[in-house]
Amino acid sequence: MTDPIRIAIASKGNPEALAEGFRTELPEAEVFDDPARIDGGPVPYLVVGKPDAGVIASVPGVELVLSLNAGVEHLLRPGEVPEGLPIVRLVDPAMTEGMSDWCLAVVLSWHRNLAIYRQDTKWTRRTEVLSRDRTVTVLGAGALGSRVARLLALIGFQTRVWSRSGRAVEGAEAFGGPDGLIAATTGADAVVNLLPLTEETRDILNADLFGRMARGGFVASAGRGQHLVDADLIAALDSGQLSAAALDVFRTEPLPASDPLWTHPGVLVTPHVAAPTQAGSAVRIMAENIRRHRRGEPIPELVDRGRGY
Ligand code: NAP
Ligand code: GLV
Repeated sequence: MTDPIRIAIASKGNPEALAEGFRTELPEAEVFDDPARIDGGPVPYLVVGKPDAGVIASVPGVELVLSLNAGVEHLLRPGEVPEGLPIVRLVDPAMTEGMSDWCLAVVLSWHRNLAIYRQDTKWTRRTEVLSRDRTVTVLGAGALGSRVARLLALIGFQTRVWSRSGRAVEGAEAFGGPDGLIAATTGADAVVNLLPLTEETRDILNADLFGRMARGGFVASAGRGQHLVDADLIAALDSGQLSAAALDVFRTEPLPASDPLWTHPGVLVTPHVAAPTQAGSAVRIMAENIRRHRRGEPIPELVDRGRGY
């Protein structure tokens, strides 16, 4: 292709810095850090965070939508991104590293009773269990879940991983499909959720799943807030079926000050920080995808609208 590269950025999080990054990566490109400032002809490349309704449709001549996020459920809502327009989700080793850090931190903290010791004012020695004697199930074996499962297995946990396809992950026992979910979570001491939000995965962290886990289990969720039935989690914690939970994502974000999750003694709330987009590496990955598009090459990580992720 020889037409000029024109890129628009529709993001509420520092679009000026992203624009500078694109100008460095693609010096020949004309970059608009605000879609409202586009002048002239078509803008084939649209970089999007979570723009207001109507912004995507306002950009002329878009050929490729590049998501600043790994999760794209907001872009798949009716009326957001026109049918047929390809969407590339963000898959970035830096994001995977951040997510692995968060998941390992919360699982190990629960596993070694760190939150309990933090509250203790007496020399109370808890029963300490070895990782080899705990089963941890990771829901999702994609860019994020597969590394988390691999690392949990390397540490020594009996690791299970569940996906649609039953995708293999080194060191872990793989399960696939709806029946696989039951096998993957039955008797699990901990469940780590790294699924995308789709109609099939909404409300998946519910009383049935908690009830299948080993008593006193732990749930960590960094997928999306709509995966979790909040009331079921609180009931499972109050009954002792679960001993603790770590949540990074919520149905309403920021989590309202009055939400009971803030004050529940068994719940750790983190403010959607498990794996923030790293601007530098994200721009490099998106710039490479723009070059691929210009060369007419296949682009990895295209969203499959039928599957919803
Ligand atoms: P991904 O690479 O698309 O992987 C998704 C995984 O989920 C795949 O293994 C897929 O199975 C599995 N899956 C999807 N639908 C399923 C179903 N119905 N039943 C069983 N398995 C199903 O996604 P990713 O990059 O790992 O990201 C996952 C999610 O993490 C994102 O969608 C986003 O919501 C969340 N996220 C959160 C943060 C944060 O900071 N909290 C940051 C980034 C991402 P197959 O392998 O068979 O396709
Ligand atoms: C963050 O939650 C993402 O989906 O990238």
